[in-house]
Amino acid sequence: MEKISILGTGYVGLVTGSCFAYLGHKVICLDINKEKIEKLKKGEIPIYEPQLDKIVALAEESDNIEFTTDYSYAIKNSDFIFIAVGTPSLPDGSADLSFVEDALKTIASYINENDFKIIVNKSTVPVGTGRWATKLLENELLKKGLKEPQKHFCVVSNPEFLREGKAVEDFMNPDRIVIGSDDKDIALKTASLYSTLNPPMIITNLPTAEMIKYASNAFLATKISFINEMANLSEKIGADIEIVSKGMGLDKRIGPYFLKAGLGFGGSCFPKDVKALIHTSRKYNVESSILDAVIKVNENQKIKPIKILKQSNIDLNGAKVALWGLAFKPDTDDIREAASLNIINELLKNNAIVFAYDPIVKSLPIANKNLIITKDKYEALDKSDILILVTEWDEFKNIDFKRFRDKIVIDGRNIWEKNILKKYAKTCFSIGR
Ligand code: UDX
Repeated sequence: MEKISILGTGYVGLVTGSCFAYLGHKVICLDINKEKIEKLKKGEIPIYEPQLDKIVALAEESDNIEFTTDYSYAIKNSDFIFIAVGTPSLPDGSADLSFVEDALKTIASYINENDFKIIVNKSTVPVGTGRWATKLLENELLKKGLKEPQKHFCVVSNPEFLREGKAVEDFMNPDRIVIGSDDKDIALKTASLYSTLNPPMIITNLPTAEMIKYASNAFLATKISFINEMANLSEKIGADIEIVSKGMGLDKRIGPYFLKAGLGFGGSCFPKDVKALIHTSRKYNVESSILDAVIKVNENQKIKPIKILKQSNIDLNGAKVALWGLAFKPDTDDIREAASLNIINELLKNNAIVFAYDPIVKSLPIANKNLIITKDKYEALDKSDILILVTEWDEFKNIDFKRFRDKIVIDGRNIWEKNILKKYAKTCFSIGR
């Protein structure tokens, strides 16, 4: 059992903290947002994530988790300090490290003569940040008068690979745990936090661990853009991308995952991480042609329904369009970089009237009198001439297809059998088939 504090109780911080507590460690979760901490103390979970409420409740029952806004308390009472603060994209695509920098400076301000803290970075930070953090902490401690700053801390990179909607499951059954540090003993000590999970371990240096995270996400994003490009060609030549994916995926060297054609990737990770990697490549004067193309293909794919409608000469001016699914993927309330936002903006630009429905997302950051969020999927559908399926929530899979009569239906995620669509809809489209 180790004493851990987690700085930042966003999605990554809260999942990591509560899962560590569930594994038996003593965890202090800190956030500067008082309101959030007050809610967490009352057992209210600020994000929608399956199983998270149960894990937090179990951790609380076993007295292994505390929530606080008090930095001094968190740092004094822990040997491991995980940084899980946000690293949003700046307009040029680089990651904004100001929250990480603030966290590091605050940590330094509470490290004293007799302390040794292991500072573990969980936030997705650009390659090179671990060593930058080490220098920053050394300088801060020197300023405080600690003569041998390196004796008081060690920086570790431990990237997260959690999928939204499956974060607790992913934490408990990791494909691998990656630990990067320039001190091998500290890396092994950090790895032991996960020992009860018995995962495959990669113990390496700081930049390699940081690179594994980016290269993994960029590769998955590349698979998605690749299959979407193949889908766009498949539909022109009469091929079916679903069967193409299946045929490709049976090759063990390719594998079946992340070959689902659709309306591209969204979320807080893939778009941001690919852009940050492009930015890092530029910084080091390294070509990033593949990554550039991954982003370009994805931007086009998100608004593919608009292209389909225009190419079919369907007038959008005054058209009533239902959107099913607003979150960037099912089982989350997250709309960051969601295709729904791009599609809605394009529809509104073309003077369409949008009836949007999602099982969980009930508001959008777009204010327009022509955007109406409905409480029920059929309300949106019945009021519209066109339906665009944007996110493949389970509740859209088995529906009353008879209601598709007289409608133009675009299945943006290929969730419905093509024959069924053909039978019931007035006109139908899907992706790559
Ligand atoms: C991702 C990574 O999977 C995770 O390891 C990392 O830590 C964070 O980023 P997440 O963003 O939660 O997780 O979602 P994921 O399930 O990976 O899907 C990302 C996007 O890709 C979604 O918009 C999804 O619809 C899309 N996608 C995924 C496809 O279009 N096709 C696929 O085959 C797979």
